Amino acid sequence: MQQTKFNRRDLVAAGLAAAGFAALSPPVPALGQGAALPLTPSCDGKAAVTRRQTEGPYFTPSSPLKPDLRGDGAGEMLALSGFVLTPQCRPVAGALVDLWHANVGGDYDNSGFRFRGHQFTDAQGRYQFLTRVPGLYPGRTRHFHVKVRAGRGPVLTTQLYFPDEPGNTRDGIFDRALLMAISAAEGGRLGRFDFVIAG
Ligand SMILES: [Fe+2]
Repeated sequence: MQQTKFNRRDLVAAGLAAAGFAALSPPVPALGQGAALPLTPSCDGKAAVTRRQTEGPYFTPSSPLKPDLRGDGAGEMLALSGFVLTPQCRPVAGALVDLWHANVGGDYDNSGFRFRGHQFTDAQGRYQFLTRVPGLYPGRTRHFHVKVRAGRGPVLTTQLYFPDEPGNTRDGIFDRALLMAISAAEGGRLGRFDFVIAG
C-alpha cells in the first residue's frame, strides 16, 4: 500500500477536485462548492482519531458492495465523500467504509439492504457514497451510521451528523466532532467527512 503524505488543506482540494461529483445529475460545480467548505488545519502528524459511537440496533452485517444508494428510495440526493486517514494524515487505500441509514420516512430496512452498502477507499484513500438525506425517527437527530476498517485492523463504528439540525441539541448521542461539512449543490447536497483511524 503506497502512502503519500499531504497536509489536510491539500486533501480538501484534491478530494473535491477528484471526487467524481459529475456522477450526480445534473453535475454540480465541485470546486466552486469546495470554496465554501471550512478550511481544515494542517495535520502536523497529530490528527485526532475519529470518535467511536454506538452501533445502534439496526446494523446488518454483510452489506453489498454498493457506493450508489440513490435507487434505494426517495429523498434529496446527497454525495458523501472524504478520506480515510491515519493520525499522521496519510491516506489509507483499500479501507472498508460501510454505510447504513434510515430512509426518508425514518425507517431502516431490516430485512434487506436498502440504504445499506459498503465500498473500499481508492488508491488516494478516498470514498464517496451517493445516497439520499436520511429521515428522522423518534429520539434521534438526523444521522448516518458508518463502520470503517483498514485491512484486518480494528473496526471504527461511528455516526455522522448534519450541522444546523434542530434535533442535534436534543439528542444525547450527538457529538459535534462528528459533524459533516454540508454544502448545497445543484441537484442535492454535498457532505464531507474525513475519518482518522488508529493504526
Ligand atoms: Fe440510527
